[in-house]
Amino acid sequence: MHRPRSIAISLLPASEDDIPSLIRVHMTAFAYDNSARLMFKDKDEYETALLDMLKAQLSNPKIAVIKAISKDTGNVLGWQASRFLGEDDDLGAVAGVEEVEDETKDRKENTPTLRSVIRKDSVRVQQDWMANREYIHFTTLVVDPAAQGHGVGTALVRWVTDNADEHGIYCWLQSSQAAHGIYLKAGFKDVGSFEVDLREFAPGGKRGGWGWGLYKYRYMLRLPGS
Ligand SMILES: CC(C)(COP(=O)(O)OP(=O)(O)OC[C@H]1O[C@@H](n2cnc3c(N)ncnc32)[C@H](O)[C@@H]1OP(=O)(O)O)[C@@H](O)C(=O)NCCC(=O)NCCS
Repeated sequence: MHRPRSIAISLLPASEDDIPSLIRVHMTAFAYDNSARLMFKDKDEYETALLDMLKAQLSNPKIAVIKAISKDTGNVLGWQASRFLGEDDDLGAVAGVEEVEDETKDRKENTPTLRSVIRKDSVRVQQDWMANREYIHFTTLVVDPAAQGHGVGTALVRWVTDNADEHGIYCWLQSSQAAHGIYLKAGFKDVGSFEVDLREFAPGGKRGGWGWGLYKYRYMLRLPGS
């Protein structure tokens, strides 16, 4: 079978100067993810949440933000963020974009927002499995759609799992629907899931939300050396 060739990349720590590229890659990577499309009211709110998340991630010495750049063009093709947690760390502190504070209720309808529903379940399950452990919380993985399918995502995942193996610690993540296969190949195992009915958050609600339906997040754990 024909396999497309890998793209030559370098993995480097990202800095504040990379923020516009990191935001662009995140937004294009998630453009077709139904859950992400309903998390924010509009493009501006999404961009602001990403900016807040990246500033918090880049200024936190316990979070590694690693970019994959093309060796040919120097362009950012993808990036990942992963947070090293010790036994005493607060699981609820900002890490992924769904964890950036938002209104927990839609003010007009007085109903919970999609982000708050996802965040609540994620913190609950993570607490259940990971309290009092030392581990890496793999919070963000995105690859520019133009560069997908050429091993960039796999290389970014390997950066995280190599680090976990080196330190002999667990890895934890909440997987999108698209990324599940890549994590299984990297030795992560499903330990739970969270299914959300996107129609409840779509314009028009349950009656009018045609084409949205169920979205399944999976909680995944990887033991060192898997
Ligand atoms: C998930 C995501 C990061 C994967 O990135 P990617 O760069 O396309 O990943 P890879 O190329 O390493 O691997 C993807 C597939 O290509 C295959 N592949 C990897 N290297 C390859 C190569 N050199 N040649 C051909 N195929 C390759 C992998 O085996 C994998 O196959 P699969 O579809 O059967 O699982 C990307 O699709 C993305 O950004 N999605 C949207 C955002 C998202 O959901 N992020 C995860 C949040 S938890």
